[in-house]
Amino acid sequence: MATMRDVAERAGVSVTSVSHVINETRAVSDELRARILAAMSELEYQPNRLARSLRSGKSQTIGIIIPDNSNPFFAEVVRGVEATSFAYGYSLILCISNADLEKEEHYIGVLIEKQVDGILFMAVGASTNQILSLQQRRVPVVVVDREVAGVAVDTVLADNARGGWLATRHLLELGHKCIACITGHNAFSLSAERVDGYRRALHDADIPPDEALIVPGDFSFASGYDAIQHLLALRDAPTAVFACNDYMAVGAICAAVEMGRLVPADLSVIGFDDVLLTSFTNPPLTTIAQPCYDMGVAAATLLLERMHDPELPTRRQTLGIDLKVRGSTAPLVGD
Ligand code: RIB
Repeated sequence: MATMRDVAERAGVSVTSVSHVINETRAVSDELRARILAAMSELEYQPNRLARSLRSGKSQTIGIIIPDNSNPFFAEVVRGVEATSFAYGYSLILCISNADLEKEEHYIGVLIEKQVDGILFMAVGASTNQILSLQQRRVPVVVVDREVAGVAVDTVLADNARGGWLATRHLLELGHKCIACITGHNAFSLSAERVDGYRRALHDADIPPDEALIVPGDFSFASGYDAIQHLLALRDAPTAVFACNDYMAVGAICAAVEMGRLVPADLSVIGFDDVLLTSFTNPPLTTIAQPCYDMGVAAATLLLERMHDPELPTRRQTLGIDLKVRGSTAPLVGD
């Protein structure tokens, strides 16, 4: 592997000049800079980034911690983060916590060791202490999608309460009155907000929520599947269901079909997220679209700004959501 000395010899300059060009520590003439860059390229010289970051305290990397890489929602957020970071010369280090708080802590330690310049965080749940300890170490942090309670931190969210309201109002406008809700993981405020929106839409339509129709889920296919098996076995089974994410909605459709019901003729189903696969389910899923990619862009932008100016006031951005009507919801017939 070529060294800085080799580059200096090839370019006919001092090692110090090479170092100034690589580390941008002093202005050099265009001609000298071009000669050194040409020598680096001929020798395929790779500056030792780790050594550079140890010296400068900057690594030009951003860490991102996500809870689940099987759900395309998170992949889409990461796509927005990557595009923005890359445009500003940063590389990403992706960590997958697998919804495990211990793993989340482990990865935070790894990212600190690697001297990342900032961390984007989609929390596992009660991650308040992790954020506080990062802030004490003056590591810039931004929280995306999953709010962390009890800490002042830059946050990017979708309008979850409005999403729950819009989903339920869509079902009400189709004539449904017996509407179930499959909740998300109760560790997250976003689940509670989506359920609040559901309750508020029922309230606005003068329909008292029936607690028996609010079934816990955990954002997995399986929990949507199990919830529908339970709901369709009730004496007063629902004619429509709002699942708090797309994965649970797809699990719900699968269970309903296995139980001999037609979607949407016997059961209307609406999800939340609008991940790509839901346009290709049978029937295609009606859902609340979150701006996943834009959430990633917004979060990376807040982080870059925070890295540039640690004294900025804490910011909170709530991005709008949209109703996407597809084939899994239909008017109630024969009531
Ligand atoms: O599909 C995953 C869900 O968990 C999404 O709705 C998103 O908001 C995340 O927190």
